[in-house]
Amino acid sequence: MSCFLICGALFVVAAYFYHETVVKGQRCTSNAKLHGKTVIVTGSNTGIGKCAAVDLARRGARVIMACRSRERGERAMEDVKRESGSNNVAFMPLDLASLKSVRNFAENYLKTEQRLDILINNAGLYMEGRTEDGFGMMFGVNHLGHFLLTNLLLQRLKESAPSRVVNVSSLAHNFGHVDFDCLHQNKTLGTGNSFMQLMQIYSNSKLCNVLFTHELHKRMQGTGVTCYSLHPGAINTEFARNINWFTVMFLKPITSFFFKTPEQGCQTTLHCALQEDLEPLSGRYFSNCTARNLLAKARDDATAKKLWELSERLSGLV
Ligand SMILES: NC(=O)c1ccc[n+]([C@@H]2O[C@H](COP(=O)([O-])OP(=O)(O)OC[C@H]3O[C@@H](n4cnc5c(N)ncnc54)[C@H](OP(=O)(O)O)[C@@H]3O)[C@@H](O)[C@H]2O)c1
Ligand SMILES: *[C@@H]1O[C@H](CO)[C@@H](O)[C@H](O)[C@H]1NC(C)=O
Ligand SMILES: *[C@@H]1O[C@H](CO)[C@@H](O)[C@H](O)[C@H]1NC(C)=O
Ligand SMILES: *[C@@H]1O[C@H](CO)[C@@H](O)[C@H](O)[C@H]1NC(C)=O
Repeated sequence: MSCFLICGALFVVAAYFYHETVVKGQRCTSNAKLHGKTVIVTGSNTGIGKCAAVDLARRGARVIMACRSRERGERAMEDVKRESGSNNVAFMPLDLASLKSVRNFAENYLKTEQRLDILINNAGLYMEGRTEDGFGMMFGVNHLGHFLLTNLLLQRLKESAPSRVVNVSSLAHNFGHVDFDCLHQNKTLGTGNSFMQLMQIYSNSKLCNVLFTHELHKRMQGTGVTCYSLHPGAINTEFARNINWFTVMFLKPITSFFFKTPEQGCQTTLHCALQEDLEPLSGRYFSNCTARNLLAKARDDATAKKLWELSERLSGLV
């Protein structure tokens, strides 16, 4: 019995140290202040987006929380104001699953806001289904909606240069591929709705994020707009909400130990948004606050260009 208790205690202590040293990861060390700067964070009503919003507001930025639900968005805005001690926080409706909503958001934003210093494309989901425009949900939200949003705001980013675009991707992009035939035929990055098939589609959408950063970097050279993509880590957020509750309950003990808290999980996002002298690393992919090398498929010029041009057509930009 006592051996059992001692072993249990040792396990808890070991897990604690493991979490503190390995899981927690590096922190953003920038002391940047953001008074007079404006930042957009998409999907900032919960998870790492919300944590990033609090940190940016604390540094003095005007923070625009671009979220799809007015109710959840406004409630989160009150939290962010309280936790940051700043009143310079606003909610603006944005549903990335609707190209019309993206256009309305951009129009509204360009009419009311003079600057855009940092755009954080953070919203993302793991879910089957279709968007309002008939695209696969993960392709539409994780990629195409952000593609259109970024492009509609590019001019304001250029005017505010030096400015940054930060794309929250995922390690999962390593398992992704872009199936152009499927995109043409089915407006989606893959078919099927088993766990593995959806995981594959999610990975594909995250590969699109990385490829876009690659292409955007090339297109923005000389404009003072730089861009970064990143893996935030494995984090305990609401992200698993669309996975069945049984799996989630089963995984809960594991995720509590081995996953980061949202506050730890937003550190690489903050690093890409704030770290001084990061500009020479524009177009790169980060994790644990460090630039990482990408697989060849994630920095393939031809695929990145092809995806960009297809996205221009699918989002109605050209
Ligand atoms: N958690 C992880 O372990 C992990 C690992 C790798 C990468 N990531 C990436 O990190 C990012 C943030 O994830 P998280 O973990 O913080 O997840 P989360 O807690 O589920 O937050 C995701 C956010 O995206 C928003 N969103 C979803 N669909 C949207 C839409 N159509 N329009 C506008 N906003 C939408 C959600 O809004 P609602 O509340 O209204 O749904 C929510 O605010 C995602 O891009 C995800 O792919 C997460
Ligand atoms: C993150 O970086 C820190 C410091 O370099 C290291 O100790 C830790 O193991 C890294 N964590 C992960 C998950 O890579
Ligand atoms: C971010 O990803 C979106 C969608 O994949 C893309 O349109 C946008 O250009 C990317 N921006 C950067 C800086 O990578
Ligand atoms: C398009 O979807 C159909 C039905 O799900 C599927 O059978 C077909 O293989 C898909 N096309 C491509 C090119 O993947």
